[in-house]
Amino acid sequence: MKSEGHLRATCFAPATLANLAVGFDFLGVAVSTFGDTVTVTRIEEPLVRFEFIEGIDSDGLPTDPLKNTASYPLIKMREVLNLKFGFSLGLKKGIPLSSGLGGSASSACAAVWAANKLLSNPLKKEDLLSFALQGEAKASGSIHADNVLPCLLGGLNLIFSLNPLSFKKLPLHKDFTFVVWHPHFRVDTFKARSILSKNILLNQHTEQSLYLSGFFLGLYENNYNLMNQSLKDVIVEPQRKKLIPHFDEIQKRAYDFGGYNLSISGAGPSLFALANGQEEAKKLKNEIDSFFKQKGEGVESFISSVNERGAHYVD
Ligand code: HSE
Repeated sequence: MKSEGHLRATCFAPATLANLAVGFDFLGVAVSTFGDTVTVTRIEEPLVRFEFIEGIDSDGLPTDPLKNTASYPLIKMREVLNLKFGFSLGLKKGIPLSSGLGGSASSACAAVWAANKLLSNPLKKEDLLSFALQGEAKASGSIHADNVLPCLLGGLNLIFSLNPLSFKKLPLHKDFTFVVWHPHFRVDTFKARSILSKNILLNQHTEQSLYLSGFFLGLYENNYNLMNQSLKDVIVEPQRKKLIPHFDEIQKRAYDFGGYNLSISGAGPSLFALANGQEEAKKLKNEIDSFFKQKGEGVESFISSVNERGAHYVD
């Protein structure tokens, strides 16, 4: 596709739930309710700079283009594609910082997809992944694609090779609905990764693999009960839950309420569970909301089906 004359583009990229209990660093899903928005303007100076950074938690973000997850991918794009012109960015954060909802991936994906529209030979989304991944790595200290893939492409994404990066977007039954809680505190992804042990036991590997098998069999058969029953993490969650106050009680409350397996979204502190339809989702949301209220802890919660679009232009 040849495109001349686009000088400015605005792109929205959704929040994502990474890991989904069974797929640490290789499974993620885009959710529909909110995300980051980036406006990119083509400028004559051969550099990348910010026009503005605003929105939720924007005070906590680096303004140095080399350190920000939205601008860094565009620096790499200029280098690799040998662009003569530069980019000016306006970043509007809709995803809270260090929330476990893929905020850094969202900024990076919105930026690369917006900038792509300004190229004389725009690339496919798949060809922009490496730029977005380098932006995401600025926040977490390592390259993992489980937020970036669903954020850019939409849907539920399974990675099945890291080198080369290979993945597949998989269909999820339209009734299967995510309920997500965002407690009002931050967990630094870098820290949440640094506390993880490099070793696991053979029996942990087997147990976790059985849950992974159950999850994908449930997905294949559109079997909600099997998917929900399989949403368990016996490796990463036990190490990270100490970063989330009341985690065991919240998890038990969801299980006692209707057999829901609640787990951590990404590096946390956000939590998620899978419900079968909107009505169930509303009841579960209210139940866990009331737990947070009883404890006097701030939380935002939402219900979302899968966002199949991923990053898209809004202007
Ligand atoms: N898979 C990543 C993790 C997602 O859990 O650390 C957070 O960026």
